[in-house]
Amino acid sequence: MSAVQDAAPPQPSASPPPSPPPSQPLISLRGVTKVYGEGALAFQALKGISLDVQQGDFVAIMGPSGSGKSTAMNILGCLDHPSTGAYLFRGVHVEGLTRDERALLRRRYFGFVFQGFHLLPRTTALENVELPLLYRGEPAAKRHAAAAQALADVGLKGWEHHTSAELSGGQQQRVAIARAIVTAPAVLLADEPTGNLDTHRSHEIMELLWRLNVEHGITVLMVTHEHDMADYARRIVHFVDGQVERDAPNPAPLMLRPGHKSVTAAEALPTQANQPAPAAASEEGT
Ligand SMILES: Nc1ncnc2c1ncn2[C@@H]1O[C@H](COP(=O)(O)OP(=O)(O)OP(=O)(O)O)[C@@H](O)[C@H]1O
Ligand SMILES: [Mg+2]
Repeated sequence: MSAVQDAAPPQPSASPPPSPPPSQPLISLRGVTKVYGEGALAFQALKGISLDVQQGDFVAIMGPSGSGKSTAMNILGCLDHPSTGAYLFRGVHVEGLTRDERALLRRRYFGFVFQGFHLLPRTTALENVELPLLYRGEPAAKRHAAAAQALADVGLKGWEHHTSAELSGGQQQRVAIARAIVTAPAVLLADEPTGNLDTHRSHEIMELLWRLNVEHGITVLMVTHEHDMADYARRIVHFVDGQVERDAPNPAPLMLRPGHKSVTAAEALPTQANQPAPAAASEEGT
């Protein structure tokens, strides 16, 4: 049978299992490989990745295009499974779970942010953020309250009733982050979250991820091509050709450097007080 019976995987209605003991990583990859395709067309995207991530860590994954970063993220987020090797999450062998069990684990513990935001168009920020809770069958009042709180957490209080088309790229990515954290995930997986944003908006998003890591205790794994963005992380892992080439702590994460100036000034994080939401106001008025 699957590893579930041995390791008691999470149930959707169950309260979260206790945090792993300090000695046990939250995430552990052991010699993970991934082969796409078969026979002559087979391509080995991962060639034996081993990686431990402790709860509360903030890891940037860098490396050339095609080095396997997204492949590894998909496996970490239970969207795909390794060809060989072991993936342990809180000590549970994920590679031994069924597809349904992996989906359960994914919904309970992981939030995802992608380069392209992936918001529903013609749908308000609040509705987008509520979606994961709708899938969980949460009642409307609870969904609204949790989504409004998540939007406030990402600095979008007052923007709840704007549709995606009425938001800037940076704001859309913040809605996507609110959607990712509304389920209170243990881990946020962000695959090039600033890839579509200008430098200023990118730094705003990175400060937000930092805050979620520090204040909400969310473990963050983020893929980026930009050294400036990786500099926010506590640890930087370099992939090359399907393998971990380097893995080292960032001795001075940007936000901890003396004299570092935050880009997230009051003007950068719109609130009801300093930036009214005209569309929301007009909707309410009609
Ligand atoms: N579904 C798939 N089928 C076949 N090959 C794939 C598939 N997904 C990825 N690959 C191949 O696996 C390799 C690693 O891809 P991956 O997307 O993980 O790279 P990446 O490091 O994220 O690159 P980028 O920085 O461009 O996003 C690439 O050569 C890619 O073509
Ligand atoms: Mg990629």
